[in-house]
Formats: sequence, structure tokens, C-alpha cells
Amino acid sequence: LREHEEFTKVKNIATVELGRYEIETWYFSLSRKCDLKHPPGDEIYRSGTLSMFEVDGKKNKVYGQNLCYLAKLFLDHKTLYYDVDLFLFYVLCECDDRGCHMVGYFSKEKHSEESYNLACILTLPPYQRKGYGKFLIAFSYELSKKEGKVGTPERPLSDLGLLSYRGYWTRVLLDILKKHKGNISIKELSDMTAIKAEDILSTLQGLELIQYRKGQHVICADPKVLDRHLKAAGRGGLEWLKNPACIYYY
Ligand code: ACO
Repeated sequence: LREHEEFTKVKNIATVELGRYEIETWYFSLSRKCDLKHPPGDEIYRSGTLSMFEVDGKKNKVYGQNLCYLAKLFLDHKTLYYDVDLFLFYVLCECDDRGCHMVGYFSKEKHSEESYNLACILTLPPYQRKGYGKFLIAFSYELSKKEGKVGTPERPLSDLGLLSYRGYWTRVLLDILKKHKGNISIKELSDMTAIKAEDILSTLQGLELIQYRKGQHVICADPKVLDRHLKAAGRGGLEWLKNPACIYYY
């Protein structure tokens, strides 16, 4: 609790300058000036002007810690990671002839007992509400698919985090249900999407697409109800992630 109080005290850094943006911060953090022109680590995805870099916290400790401090400027409830060795950082950049400019990132534990595939996600404010959050979420699930695992984000989620995840899960599941002919189980949906079964169940329950019959949850996807939900649902984030096969991952 003391640590929490420590890090929610009065905002100390008013603005952050990144590329052509001067960004007003939201909360207190220990962020300092960073002179790097592009993230360290391997570029593991490129499509058009977008590149994703994978940064190992063990090899780039200070960079990893600075990313956590930067995220803290926009997050009220997360504890900071000093021990970044155990994390990978996926840094999304928009690149132009002046270099690679960070748009957002997510961190991920190298080994998670709780099947977390994302620890902390941030889109820098000038880039928010353009679909990058869902792109990052989509990317985290593509990595899980490559690992042959299902994943879920670390809890608790912030309000904006929950909105983004709900939106992503809704869009991805509705798209599959719309195309699929015949019955489909939650396990099958989970295998196809790498989304954890509990998250699928809660999303479909929220959409009132689940009935409880003979002690089992059954998906009841009436085409008219699906169409109504699809009209209301936002973008999935996958439109941005044009070619997941381009993720170069060891
Ligand atoms: N008000 C209302 N809805 C919003 C807002 C907002 N300010 N911002 C995003 N949304 C909703 C939209 O409905 C959108 O869905 P839609 O496309 O269906 O309309 C959905 O969230 C996702 O929008 P994106 O543009 O894909 O996401 P964005 O790039 O804005 O990033 C994020 C979302 C990462 C949560 C961003 O808001 C952020 O960095 N917030 C501060 C840090 C934070 O809270 N991180 C999550 C913590 S939880 C965790 O890390 C596990």
C-alpha cells in the first residue's frame, strides 16, 4: 500500500516529448530523459510504416525500466517492475525517414504460471483511439498462437484496458461465429483464437449468446442477433495486423 501511495502522489513530470509530440502526462512516475532514436532488440514484425521490436528486459534493463516508468505516467493502479529481467517488451513504432517513433508497447512475462500473455499495455495518448491498442492485443494473441498456448491479460485491468479487451474479444468471436456453420464449442473457439475459455465465456455471456442447458454452457448464435452485435462492434485490431505470418519469432 505504501508503494501504491508513493507512486500515486502528486504528478512530477508535466510533459513528455516524443518525436513531433509533446505529451501531457496523467500521473506521478520516475521517468527520465531517454536519448535512444529507436528501441533496442530485434525487429520481429514490419508492415508498411509499422514495426514491432522485441526487447529482452534482461539484455536491456534500463530501457525496460524506463518503459515501465513511462507507462506509469498514464496508469494509476499498476506496481512498477524493477525486476525487468523476467519480461519481454514489445514496442510498436511508426517509422519514417527520421527514425522509429514509439506508438505504444506491451510487456510480457517470459514464463507465466497463470497463462498471462500480457502484463501491461500502453498506447501513448497522441496515438490513442486509433486502433493501436487492439493491434497490440491482437499481437499478444498471435504470439500465444505461435507458442501453442492460450493467454489472458494480467489482472486487474484498467477501465480503458477492459474496454479495449472487451472490444477485441467481441469482434474476434463475432467474426468467427458469423462465418462458422454448425455448432462450435468454447474450447474450439479458444483453440482458434488463443483466448482463454473464461474470457470467451464472459464475453459471450455479455452478448447474451450463451444458454445453460443440461449443466452445460451452450453457444446460441442466432444470425439476426449476431448481425445486430456485429453492427455495434468496433474494429478488431486484426485489420491493422495485416499479416500475422510476418511475425518473425524464435
Ligand atoms: N473513451 C472511451 N472508449 C475508449 C477510450 C476512451 N478514452 N479509449 C479507447 N476506448 C475504447 C474504444 O471503444 C475502442 O474500441 P472500438 O474500436 O470498438 O471503438 C477500444 O477502447 C480500443 O481502442 P484502441 O484505439 O484499439 O485502443 P488505444 O490505442 O486507445 O489503447 C489502451 C487502449 C492501451 C488501454 C490505452 O487507453 C492506454 O494506454 N491507456 C492507459 C494505460 C492503460 O490503462 N493500460 C491498460 C492497463 S491494464 C493492463 O495493462 C493489463
